Amino acid sequence: MRWDPSQYLKFAGHRLRPAIDLMNQIPAEAPAEIVDLGCGTGNVTRMLAQRWPRAAITGVDSSAEMLGDAAETLPVVKWQAADVTTWRPLAPVEVLYSNAALHWLGDHGELFAHLFAQVRPGGWLAVQMPRNFDAPSHATINELADEARWRPALAPLVQPSPTHPPAFYYDVLAGAAADLNIWETEYLQVLEGDDPVAEWTKGTWLRPFLAALDPADRPDFEAAYRARMRVAYPRRPDGKTLFPFRRLFLIAQRG
Ligand SMILES: C[S@@+](CC[C@H](N)C(=O)[O-])C[C@H]1O[C@@H](n2cnc3c(N)ncnc32)[C@H](O)[C@@H]1O
Repeated sequence: MRWDPSQYLKFAGHRLRPAIDLMNQIPAEAPAEIVDLGCGTGNVTRMLAQRWPRAAITGVDSSAEMLGDAAETLPVVKWQAADVTTWRPLAPVEVLYSNAALHWLGDHGELFAHLFAQVRPGGWLAVQMPRNFDAPSHATINELADEARWRPALAPLVQPSPTHPPAFYYDVLAGAAADLNIWETEYLQVLEGDDPVAEWTKGTWLRPFLAALDPADRPDFEAAYRARMRVAYPRRPDGKTLFPFRRLFLIAQRG
């Protein structure tokens, strides 16, 4: 899908927090090489470069829009346009990091086994992904897509949650791991402004659904979604909107 960096970065603070929480738990002291998979606009890649200034860092992403922004702001990083599902490094990597990207890809059993195989012995795979797909913000998109008016265009996009419970990742990785640290956090995100939950998903999960509709139909779909979000996440008397968001983290050291 086509990404819109400015829409995605509207909530940069909330989106960066889990990236930092993941980075802070990686035990590597002075890795020589780090790859940021699904690096997007490079905001998180910049933080990796700040934490490990001597590491050679590569940012990998399949979106020309996102990489365009990244290359402008951080020339010291090597940027690589590639699809994560088929990407292979020249040699096994010391730290393979991915924030908020792998939930866009299917078959996590195969994908995570493949990615862990690209990590050198003693190195780390570190991943954070949303696991919030049953929440109204995401479930409502599927519910609307199943309505008669939208089903013909949107049915192919409806899918079960792309991320699995923590034990699933334990089972995929444990056989090749020397150490495995998996946890979940639900952030109580305090958002400001009009329709902030709809603005949030418009930068991510809602995008492909809107893009699949005829342009003339998009305003009606978006209006229906916004109306439901106002009910599911009402604005509080202080003007703020609470948007709880669960995320899954894993850090696996290769044996
Ligand atoms: C939500 S953004 C996250 C960007 C960045 N990691 C961050 O935390 O700000 C997801 C990124 O994953 C990238 N992505 C999705 N599918 C991909 C694939 N198959 N191969 C490479 N990148 C992919 C998108 O282009 C997008 O830049």
